Amino acid sequence: MTEYKIYGGTPLVGSVPISGAKNGALPLLFASILAEGDCVFYNMPDIGDIRLGVEILTRMGACADWRDAHTLRINTDGFTPDAVPVALTGQMRASSYLLGACLGRFGTAPAPCTGGCDFGNRPLDCHYEVFHAMGAEGDGSLYTRQGLHGCRYVFPRVSVGATVNALLAAAGTEAATDLAGCATEPHVVDLERFLCCIGVEIEGIGTSHLTVRGKKKRKGASYVVAPDDIEAGTYLCAVAATGGRVRVCDVTPGALSPLLAVLRRAGCEVEQSIDSVTLLCDGKLRGVEIETAPAPGFPTDLHPPLAAALCFAGGVSILRERVWQQRFRYVGELSKMGACTQMRGDTLVISPAQMHAAEVTATDLRGGAALVIAALATEGRSVVGQRKLLERGYENLPHKLRLLGANIV
Ligand code: EPZ
Repeated sequence: MTEYKIYGGTPLVGSVPISGAKNGALPLLFASILAEGDCVFYNMPDIGDIRLGVEILTRMGACADWRDAHTLRINTDGFTPDAVPVALTGQMRASSYLLGACLGRFGTAPAPCTGGCDFGNRPLDCHYEVFHAMGAEGDGSLYTRQGLHGCRYVFPRVSVGATVNALLAAAGTEAATDLAGCATEPHVVDLERFLCCIGVEIEGIGTSHLTVRGKKKRKGASYVVAPDDIEAGTYLCAVAATGGRVRVCDVTPGALSPLLAVLRRAGCEVEQSIDSVTLLCDGKLRGVEIETAPAPGFPTDLHPPLAAALCFAGGVSILRERVWQQRFRYVGELSKMGACTQMRGDTLVISPAQMHAAEVTATDLRGGAALVIAALATEGRSVVGQRKLLERGYENLPHKLRLLGANIV
């Protein structure tokens, strides 16, 4: 099946379990290249990008087996940086983590062939800048003459991927690598903690200033993947759109605070416990003004799901996207459902509209989630094509939505 069929207009009610974070699990998967012996990851999400990442590593010599649907054992002792399966690595952005992991372990790295959501140009200049600062040479594949030598480096802009890659490379040298301007997203902090589990020393964990001292001998470890804040936030945006009462379970409420603050401003009620958040919405959202930013700002990956919910607000909303220049491709599809929007440079203005069911097509992972949310909140039968784009990052989406009373196949 290539599409979702959604019969919308019903408030969402119930509890939904949240999976491990896609953007947290992927760096951990590639970080296993740095560890000798077995790594065991718990709470791995059962999604397309993880299965793709495991396939890439096994094609390059790793051994992997699933102990259950969410527990992965991986051993990369037999991994070599040669023969990159470019047909696979070209399907996702996280393949770029092969650069840092291979550099950290072997002192060389194959040229990456990466893909991922189409947001226009997605350069790797910051990644290569920090590798060169550490002593690596090359502008595609990388090599070192005398190994990595650590460095003091200040990122010119906050980059999740470049921070991840710098951490992976720095893990391979005992010389101190001092990094300022690092990303502090929860899933980057997860990687920092895992690297410490395999023997790397990191000062400043959770902050934007990290000092990394790698180890020549790094032993495999077990690790529990943190919850997916973006998946959880997507379900909260869905109930904000449809009205109802939804509890997202197995989450870290603190990591959801930027979204919760916006949803409170929009008129939703929030209840939280140590590992869950409940959102109550009466279906009468107020318009809000937000702009995306790296952590601790409002996460760019929740911009499309929130925008979909704001199409059902009673007032005007203004949403400024400060991370990706071209993240608005989904807006054209939302307009097919009656959304009343206006683009002003990097800012989207959303006005109240009478939304209607339609046949639309996902443009990317989070843009597709926005279309599903809009369909859930709209009376009638909608179709969202290119469901495989959503299956990359949302585990069991139809099943989880049916737990909340949605009519989706
Ligand atoms: C990660 O992408 C996520 N992907 C993205 O999530 C997320 O939107 C993004 O971080 C920001 O949070 C994964 O983790 C697999 P960046 P990444 O490097 O690492 C510019 C999703 O929906 N930049 O933080 O590629 C870049 O163009 C996906 O799950 C440079 O200019 O993002 C962008 O404008 C979509 N040069 C900004 O920085 C560089 O060398 C942020 O990019 C690197 C980045």
